[in-house]
Amino acid sequence: MRPRAKVKIAVDISMTIALLLLMTYEMVGQAAHEWIGIGMLLLFVLHHILNGKWSKNLLKGKYTSVRLMQTLLVICVLLSMLGSMISGVILSRHALSFLPIHSGRAFARTLHMISAYWGFVFMSLHLGFHWSMMMGMAGKLVKKPSGVRKWLLRAIAILIAGYGMYAFMKRDVGSYMLLRSQFVFFDFEEPIALFMLDYMTIAALFVCAGHYMRQLVRRKKGDEK
Ligand code: HEM
Repeated sequence: MRPRAKVKIAVDISMTIALLLLMTYEMVGQAAHEWIGIGMLLLFVLHHILNGKWSKNLLKGKYTSVRLMQTLLVICVLLSMLGSMISGVILSRHALSFLPIHSGRAFARTLHMISAYWGFVFMSLHLGFHWSMMMGMAGKLVKKPSGVRKWLLRAIAILIAGYGMYAFMKRDVGSYMLLRSQFVFFDFEEPIALFMLDYMTIAALFVCAGHYMRQLVRRKKGDEK
């Protein structure tokens, strides 16, 4: 595997870990949350530099249904990331508290909440859309699984996604996405690992959804990509 591909994988894994830590907000500490958020911005820029070929070709070539969906998803990720960052800068009480920003907090709170939770879903779907490609890259590192192992892995994925659906409801993620709740509930007695585990399964649910959405569109339209 080329060094660039290895860096790409390392950046993607770091972004996934950062996203999960960011969703814990105060459980990881207010200041830590802000620094991880700033780190996420740097990783995001790096991710775009490493995938620069994709952006350069944005206006070139034919748009198949898969490509169109993939591009729309990237735009949604970009918007939610911008929303999280801009509102985060306004809300900052630690890392960026020196900035002379004294208004717009109420708007920023709403924007931060909606961007964070929609962004979590969009980023997971985006990951799922590129799942086959990433598995292809990982396949160069590990041996190809046999037929039985492939089905076993699929069954495990279904179980995890099933639990993810339960965790999505238990954690009220839908009501944060729709702004039905103004405040996010965090139980500080709960171990952070359990909270992250639940969010990992919610992410897995949307990774699966993204992966199968792509397969479905590809099959229906007979797209080659
Ligand atoms: C992708 C990036 C980010 C994600 C996914 C994220 C996620 C979250 C989540 C889930 C919460 C708790 C729910 C809420 O109150 O909205 C939160 C709150 C907060 N975040 Fe972030 N965040 C990100 C970036 C940042 C950055 C860059 C900063 C500042 C430098 C920041 C500062 C804050 C602050 C101050 C709060 C508390 C808001 C309040 O007072 O209610 N966040 N974030």
